[in-house]
Amino acid sequence: MTEMKNSPDSNGPLAARDLKKSFGGNRVVDGMSLALGPGEMLGLIGPNGAGKTTMFNLLAGTLASDAGSIHLSGTDVTRTSQQGRCRLGLSRSFQIPKPFSRMTILENVMTAAQNQAGENVLRAMMQPRLVAKQEQANVARARDLIDFVSLSHLEDQPASVLSGGQRKLLELARVLMTQPRVILLDEPAAGVNPALLDLIIDRIAQIHAQGIAVLLIEHNMEMIARLCPRVIVMAAGKLLAEGTPQDVTRRADVIDVYLDGAPA
Ligand SMILES: Nc1ncnc2c1ncn2[C@@H]1O[C@H](COP(=O)(O)OP(=O)(O)OP(=O)(O)O)[C@@H](O)[C@H]1O
Ligand SMILES: [Mg+2]
Repeated sequence: MTEMKNSPDSNGPLAARDLKKSFGGNRVVDGMSLALGPGEMLGLIGPNGAGKTTMFNLLAGTLASDAGSIHLSGTDVTRTSQQGRCRLGLSRSFQIPKPFSRMTILENVMTAAQNQAGENVLRAMMQPRLVAKQEQANVARARDLIDFVSLSHLEDQPASVLSGGQRKLLELARVLMTQPRVILLDEPAAGVNPALLDLIIDRIAQIHAQGIAVLLIEHNMEMIARLCPRVIVMAAGKLLAEGTPQDVTRRADVIDVYLDGAPA
């Protein structure tokens, strides 16, 4: 077992300690701890079925953990809802993005806005001008983000027209719309054609350069090596290794779990 340089500092942007999650007696996350440093881009790798997405679900509050604790910038959020964690600055992407296919790209990004005063009927009636102003600001912000991910030409098209790679880009814009301080990206390059891969890597690097801490699940090791100075390797629900991408991928125990675990 690697020394726990990764031992959680609960004051960092995101820290998880000893998380556990079982499904019907099958322990999928088995005592995982991790800590994301301020402004860090940390890679999370491991074979198929290792429990990476389940770990994201626990961190984001999509699923409740059976045991362990989660801190966001020093606040214990172990029992906070996904919405509550999002309000505190945590946003996640989905391994398989499911945009609202009949809504436009712009509308899809708008659904992630945090301050939609118009949703409060009473407020909309009492303060129509304020609500309209906020709505305008949200539209402007959504348009900027759609431009950032190079989808402006499709802004008014339904999401159903998007390719797999473009859905990943829409997912990035949606994540950013929440104005996060920490983002969890689940395989942002999976199924993306090589022409879009460089664009996605560049945009993630730019997001990180703005000071947002990033936890990145990815099987594409080129992408991990380009973006993440440090990675942790998860296998069978546990932390197997931690280090630079070059170091961990040379380790015999890491190579073994990839060979045993599943198709590469
Ligand atoms: N809701 C669920 N109910 C039952 N089993 C689940 C559930 N979610 C995940 N699992 C199981 O937990 C294990 C880990 O799944 P998970 O999706 O976390 O792996 P992963 O590391 O993200 O894999 P991949 O690299 O293929 O995305 C798998 O065996 C999966 O079938
Ligand atoms: Mg997964």
